[in-house]
Amino acid sequence: MTKDILSKEEILKHSHFNMPEEKLILLKTVDSTNLYCKELAKSQPDHEVLVVADAQTSGRGRMGRTFFSPESTGIYMSLLLDCNRIKLPPNLLTVAAGTAVCRVLREICKIDADIKWVNDIFANNKKVCGILAESISDFNTNLPRYIVVGIGINISTADNVFPDDIKEIAGSVFPKHTTRNEIIAEIFNTLNGIYTNNNIDELISEYKNYSLVLGKKINFTQNGKEHAGIAEDINNEGNLIARLDNGEVVTLKSGEISLGSANFVKRGCCT
Ligand code: BTN
Repeated sequence: MTKDILSKEEILKHSHFNMPEEKLILLKTVDSTNLYCKELAKSQPDHEVLVVADAQTSGRGRMGRTFFSPESTGIYMSLLLDCNRIKLPPNLLTVAAGTAVCRVLREICKIDADIKWVNDIFANNKKVCGILAESISDFNTNLPRYIVVGIGINISTADNVFPDDIKEIAGSVFPKHTTRNEIIAEIFNTLNGIYTNNNIDELISEYKNYSLVLGKKINFTQNGKEHAGIAEDINNEGNLIARLDNGEVVTLKSGEISLGSANFVKRGCCT
């Protein structure tokens, strides 16, 4: 494999959508590619960009967590999208991003990747990717005006480099015959194909095919109460439908569920 150095030219070469050069921003180090996009949305409205960094000093994760982002061994990318130009409802972009990453890891990297609702991607029993979608509301209407879709993938971070608090759970993809440039471009191509298409049934059906949780026992906390049940379905809004042990059916819109770690391996794959 050629040396895995990020290059604008290489990313653009693999992009199918004739992305104009000025729409791709490649940075050596940044605090967070999501924050960079949010600032850009404020300072230069009507800007749609893809921001990629070789390292982040304050990578942001869901629920106020950080995302470990060491240099040269990961993909840290954020797409700034104008809600008026995408066909998909903004709340489905996070599902779209998970689906795009999973498809690319499977097809290009040849990895058995699956999604743990909402959007953690697991391979070989380890979390290899996290996704954080953030919206910027219109000041007057309070409706989402821009969406920032941030994707972080551990590509070749060695196990002993992960900090103590995540080292049991985090892992890397270690793809053999591709580069970060190609993977970034393919994720962009795939995600672009999904949000310009608006085929929600097709999107949810693909997302469900990659799901690690459907049919499994799950635990979660809602309104301060702990619940246990079975993950039964994912609806067309990307919500998880769970049947509790007492028979009640609840719809989860966000938050986190937990599975026993043995459940991270889907039956029939990842052998
Ligand atoms: C999570 O696992 O909780 C979500 C992690 C999202 C990390 C990505 S890396 C690129 C983008 N910039 C950020 O600051 N966060 C996202």
